[in-house]
Amino acid sequence: MAGATVSATAPAIFSDPAIEARVDSIVSRMSLDDKVGQMCQLTVERLRDFSKGTPDVFHFDEALLDSAVVRYRVGSVLNVPADVAQTPEEWNRVIGHIQDATLAAQGIPSVYGVDQMHGTTYTLGGTLFPQQVNIGASFNRQLARRAAEICAYESKACGIPWIFAPVADLGRDCRWSRMWENYGEDCYLNAQMATEAVRGLQGSDPNHIGPNNAAACMKHYMGYGVPVSGKDRTPAVISPSDLREKHFAPYLDMVRRGNALSVMISSSSINGTPTHANYDLITRWLKEDLNWDGMVVTDWGDIDFLWNRDRVAANKKDAIALAINAGIDMSMDPFDTQFCTLLKELVAEGRVPMERIDDAVRRIIRFKLRAGLFDRPMTVRADYPDFGSKQHKADALEAALQSIVLLKNDNATLPLKKGTRILVTGPNANSMRTLNGGWSYSWQGHRADDFLPGRNTILEALTNEFGKKNVSYVPGVTYKQGGLWWEENEPDIAPAVKAAADADVIVACIGENSYAETPGNLTDLTLSASQRQLVKELAVTGKPIVLVLTEGRPRIIADIEPLASAVVDAILPGDFGGDALARLLAGRSDFSAKLPFTYPKEINSITTYDYKPSEHIGKEMEGAYNYNALVSQQWPFGYGLSYNKYDYSDFHIDRDKFAPGDTLTLSVTVTNRGSMPGMEPVLLFSRDMVASVTPDIRRLRTFEKVSLKPGESKTVTFRLPASDLAFVDAAGRWLLEPGEFSFMCGPLSTQATCTAPRRWDTPNREP
Ligand code: BGC
Repeated sequence: MAGATVSATAPAIFSDPAIEARVDSIVSRMSLDDKVGQMCQLTVERLRDFSKGTPDVFHFDEALLDSAVVRYRVGSVLNVPADVAQTPEEWNRVIGHIQDATLAAQGIPSVYGVDQMHGTTYTLGGTLFPQQVNIGASFNRQLARRAAEICAYESKACGIPWIFAPVADLGRDCRWSRMWENYGEDCYLNAQMATEAVRGLQGSDPNHIGPNNAAACMKHYMGYGVPVSGKDRTPAVISPSDLREKHFAPYLDMVRRGNALSVMISSSSINGTPTHANYDLITRWLKEDLNWDGMVVTDWGDIDFLWNRDRVAANKKDAIALAINAGIDMSMDPFDTQFCTLLKELVAEGRVPMERIDDAVRRIIRFKLRAGLFDRPMTVRADYPDFGSKQHKADALEAALQSIVLLKNDNATLPLKKGTRILVTGPNANSMRTLNGGWSYSWQGHRADDFLPGRNTILEALTNEFGKKNVSYVPGVTYKQGGLWWEENEPDIAPAVKAAADADVIVACIGENSYAETPGNLTDLTLSASQRQLVKELAVTGKPIVLVLTEGRPRIIADIEPLASAVVDAILPGDFGGDALARLLAGRSDFSAKLPFTYPKEINSITTYDYKPSEHIGKEMEGAYNYNALVSQQWPFGYGLSYNKYDYSDFHIDRDKFAPGDTLTLSVTVTNRGSMPGMEPVLLFSRDMVASVTPDIRRLRTFEKVSLKPGESKTVTFRLPASDLAFVDAAGRWLLEPGEFSFMCGPLSTQATCTAPRRWDTPNREP
């Protein structure tokens, strides 16, 4: 029933009676004005005096601030002052001022939220990690947690208590401009990494977030990563099984194992219903089924989208009623306090029940209590001596090292020996912007080169590594400064070709410039014609070419890949990505990352690794109907090379028959046959051989990254509950059917048979 509220008495999965008592007491003293104000979130730019200062310096308009916090009782603010990175001290000044004004007016602290998906996005001197997609490529859970811990600590130094991360969209359509913001295409990988990130952000006690931790906001709930058009914020069509089994999986895990305190709703629609109006997904699946007492915030202006974009409401007031009754607790209505007035009217008219308002406000106050804001409304730089420390930067470098993927290395082109003369070329060679991508120093990432003393581009890092006299630089293709992100200048390839004569190897740094969200929409996934032309003309010289890709999504390179001796996909490795790359190319560290997505080869062959059997019929049929169907990909999900060679042996399962309640134990021995210490992500896949719903060709079930010295062997043991092998049928029910399952690890496989069926009556396989 729309407008129903979740029972306030039902015990939440990690609720704390002392906090609940404080929630009761605070909410009982609040007026309706106070309550609707708590439910409204403004952008800091709405509080700005644009007539003062320079574009990068933020000045408050005190009258606007007063109107927001005194008159409208607004309880939350987001975003970066002046749209560009600030010092921690400036963050302290801005958030501190809002906090003082809010406390004086309301006696309830404001909560400030910022997008910090790969470290302190908008802070000078902070630590920027690789983007989340790289963390996915590392297949190392500890890195996800460590990156988040550092992000929380440095955010707190700025006074930021609430972080709009982790991103757990499934990046399953590589045309989409937000592919790089999540952990790749697979639901298990996203669930594992996102839950580690939530734990890293929030620390060990989600009811009492400590001074070094911050509240997480999982996003964007859900199904955002599969827009039918491939364009951002456009509709998705998702089957009931995929919705429950894949898209919901990371959120389920972040709530159940991670105790995530808040969620942001996806800006798109699923099967015709905008997610912000989806009562089933917000209230039933998340709040009721999981008994989750966390807080739900909209994405940017999304209640307005219900009427002025999606046309499921006639006007703003109707849209507010629809969204609040669907389960939205806080509206990110960045520039408009009208939300407060209209919501009050809706309550007076009985169109939004008072119980729903109380439920939303209880969630917001509980969230603020848990985040520690009532006891510690503000944190400041001076109390965070490790802000931007050497150790934090070393951790970001380590994350970059473990997240850069080696895709091709013919004739042992890499590593490059000392003394090798290198021609560095391509538009991404000398730019911090292209190492970081969007959400870096500015929303679109376009200011990244303005603020970077002490950080190295690929060119600078290669020069440091191989010596000035061995490295020359001729870009050949450049981006149009100040232009749109994809715009390039007229190519100037001849000088690069000429310079190749004096080089032993060409390192061609190609890919994409930075972008974020809808401005990153594309009409052609193929890498730009000029960049491909650069590689083609350089190939004529006969010098070996190493392609280094820095790009937020895998751009098609099928026509130039054969011209390269080696290919490295650095994806978006962050501020220390240049240094990491140089070290890897020099062979001072080994590659240990694997693709977290399927790299496409042709535009009409975009696929994911967990496709259906009918998508690949290798054998031609007989007679007139002698067609086949082929999955074509440049490189598969989970693919990645190393200098070392890792042998897999003794893949073993502890039983050949199992019942649905069993836990299977699988083990495999991995040996480093190479000559350097290294790390290997060991991935376990399964395949349901026959099922009543056509099964996925394979599914990632678990993984472990192991460190191995030269010659060393380790046995990796996986414990896999049989219930993990269940699937969701067309009616949305979990089901495990009897029959044969295959398990695959490296080049090895083994089988076991499930002997009995199990159907779960509960939505999330509760025992
Ligand atoms: C994005 C979100 C982000 C929000 C606040 C939106 O445009 O979709 O990812 O958290 O803005 O900046």
